[in-house]
Amino acid sequence: MKIFVTRKIPQVGLDLLKQAGHEVAVSEFDRPLTREELMQKVAAADAILSQLVDKIDGEVMDMAGKQLKVIANYAVGYDNLNLKDAESRHILVTNTPDVLTDAVADHAFALMMAAARRVVESDRFSRAGKYTGWQPFLLLGQDVHGKTMGIVGMGRIGSTLAARAAKGFGMKVLYTDQKDNAQLDSEIGSKRVELNELLKTADFISVHVPLLPETRHMFSSKQFEMMKKTAVFVNTSRGPVVDEQALLDALKKGDIFGAGIDVWEFEPKLTPGLAELENIVITPHTASATIEARDNMSRVAAENIIAVLKGEQPPNLVKIT
Ligand code: DGY
Repeated sequence: MKIFVTRKIPQVGLDLLKQAGHEVAVSEFDRPLTREELMQKVAAADAILSQLVDKIDGEVMDMAGKQLKVIANYAVGYDNLNLKDAESRHILVTNTPDVLTDAVADHAFALMMAAARRVVESDRFSRAGKYTGWQPFLLLGQDVHGKTMGIVGMGRIGSTLAARAAKGFGMKVLYTDQKDNAQLDSEIGSKRVELNELLKTADFISVHVPLLPETRHMFSSKQFEMMKKTAVFVNTSRGPVVDEQALLDALKKGDIFGAGIDVWEFEPKLTPGLAELENIVITPHTASATIEARDNMSRVAAENIIAVLKGEQPPNLVKIT
């Protein structure tokens, strides 16, 4: 059957698809496709292997045709796909959870540490030749060990980060979620609290919620004002969960100590002014960018497609609620 891959991904998944006897067409461009290109390229595909930047709605699905059976997103998040449109056309949607959990949790920790200990700012300072010798007050940051970690969204990535924080850094863990994580609570002493309590008491706040209408701008001026002036805020979920202008203002006014963001509200554009601030560490949506994680994402996306095209339940079916 015909599979269209919207951008080159690690070879492992492409090989699996070919070995399963499918005809695999990979976009020839090393960039996201325009909507027109996407509409044109998906025609006659039985499966689309999409990127998180590909906006796929009913119109694109209709251009593919009635034979389209599955859209396998090369990501754990799937806010780029219109699930209702897929459901009404009996098209299955899959994602790549689990295989990038550790990589993203590691990256969230890296951003926390970098912002707390001013690592990137110190690097810039050193490279600029500004170091004149040891000083008692040079580039003072925040302790991380033993502090309170606040995790907003205790899913796979949130709970992995929680375990890292508690076990590796002796941190107390507070979290928000729809339900208690009883197993983790008994293992690491974490505690579910209301969001406002978390915002007021946590030293580090890391966001792990999906982008939904109700999570868009979940973090704005009001939330930053509630945080401690020494707090470090980290976002590796989706950019629009944060009102980036409000984050910029909070960092400028000193409402919080620092921030680390891997996802931006208007990717690939950064809110003007943010790049000029010293107290933010910015990475370009690379939290899952390890060789291992990306290979596994490629494999998992292919396995999902292969299962659906065999008429089987895919391992990572996205449930449409
Ligand atoms: C995902 O998979 O949704 C992540 O954003 C990738 O880094």
